[in-house]
Amino acid sequence: GAPVEVNIGKAEPGQLIRVEWRGQPVWVVRRTPEMLASLEAVSDQLRDPNSDEPQQPEYAKNLHRSRKEEYFVAVGICTHLGCSPQFLDQGMGEYVEGAQSGFFCPCHGSTFDIAGRVFQGVPAPYNLVVPPHYYINDNTILVG
Ligand code: FES
Repeated sequence: GAPVEVNIGKAEPGQLIRVEWRGQPVWVVRRTPEMLASLEAVSDQLRDPNSDEPQQPEYAKNLHRSRKEEYFVAVGICTHLGCSPQFLDQGMGEYVEGAQSGFFCPCHGSTFDIAGRVFQGVPAPYNLVVPPHYYINDNTILVG
């Protein structure tokens, strides 16, 4: 499949932009400072907080799992059996104590933080996948 350009110039803080790449949903989330601050807070509840598992590109192996702190880019497919998780910009606390934002998969209840890191004790085996991508300029990401 061809690479896909994502214009992030108009993304509001807290917004998720959805595009399609190779028939898969790809998300770009412009994270708020509160969302970024929450990453440390939930780290001890995660299965693979440092993204050590091999499915991840090098630039996803940091706390925010992205090239730029503010923007999170991920394939929007649950790593369990492929459902599409819901983006919760608030209300994640209903599923994970101490979390405010993240992703919830309604199929079997897997939970991911706002960097797509999977919580312990759910069926999804690893973190949401970060697709290959780079910044063409400050307002444009090329996925693929
Ligand atoms: Fe997401 Fe099973 S497919 S929890």
